[in-house]
Amino acid sequence: MKIRKAVLPVAGLGTRFLPATKAVPKEMLPVVDKPLIQYAVEEALAAGVSQVILVNSRDKGALEDHFDRAPELEEHLRSRKKYDLLQLVLDTTPEQLSVASTRQINPMGLGHAVWCARDLVGDEPFAVILPDDLVRGDTPVLQQMTQCFETLQCSMVAVEEVPACDTNKYGIIDPAHEQDGLVLAKGLVEKPDPALAPSRLALIGRYILTPGIFDLLGGQSRGAGGEIQLTDAMARLLEKESVYGFRFQGVRYDCGHKAGFQLANLALALERDDLRPQMLPFLKQQLARWS
Ligand code: UTP
Repeated sequence: MKIRKAVLPVAGLGTRFLPATKAVPKEMLPVVDKPLIQYAVEEALAAGVSQVILVNSRDKGALEDHFDRAPELEEHLRSRKKYDLLQLVLDTTPEQLSVASTRQINPMGLGHAVWCARDLVGDEPFAVILPDDLVRGDTPVLQQMTQCFETLQCSMVAVEEVPACDTNKYGIIDPAHEQDGLVLAKGLVEKPDPALAPSRLALIGRYILTPGIFDLLGGQSRGAGGEIQLTDAMARLLEKESVYGFRFQGVRYDCGHKAGFQLANLALALERDDLRPQMLPFLKQQLARWS
């Protein structure tokens, strides 16, 4: 089976970015000149996904509007022959992609948000992308995973090593064995204390899941932080079927917190020929000042 659908949970409150996120969804914050959500949707498209499912909440309609046509703006740009800008606007509504949305009435956690997409996903394996994990690599990370899924046909989650002192910020995999970057899980623990963590391999925001996860999420009680955790449901899924950690190629920026978000802006701006010449002298000046 191929992965045709990707769930993007975007119903969180984004409290770590207040006051910026009081009225603007965290997923609409721009890295250079594109909102986080657009990077996620482009990654889904590159991986062959044809339907994106936003799990949204009230007051975050801008996320849906971003993937709708904007006739007045388009006409304005066309009449002034600003075709480059027009193309940027049209690129947000690619023909081969449909965007559906549903709502999570209360932000009860990532697991609950994924469960809210169950009717739109139906009975097929699907991807989950957390837009605040931005990953840069030669091949987009979800594409790496869907290619692997075509032969493996199992649930998997992207993993990367984190410092031992940080295990209590992530879901952590308990590895059974590893081959060619695929880590068979014998357990998954949400935010373990460093002293109790079974490894330093942290789950990051890219998943491919089989639909069996929905029944488990439906009966799931609240876990760490009082939230319904996706990690806990996956820990029960692996009692029935294989679940793998996928060591991806690329650099991950955790844009869910301020430092990671600034690093992503810096790195992506430096990638750009139009911005680098202005940024490098400034950065050198700042380094001399602060180091
Ligand atoms: P985070 O925990 O990073 O996002 O969830 P948050 O809760 O919005 O942020 P803080 O901690 O208050 O700053 C990762 C992703 O899961 C979504 C978020 O919108 C984000 O894209 N999410 C989280 C939901 O959709 N629903 C939830 O109940 C929680």
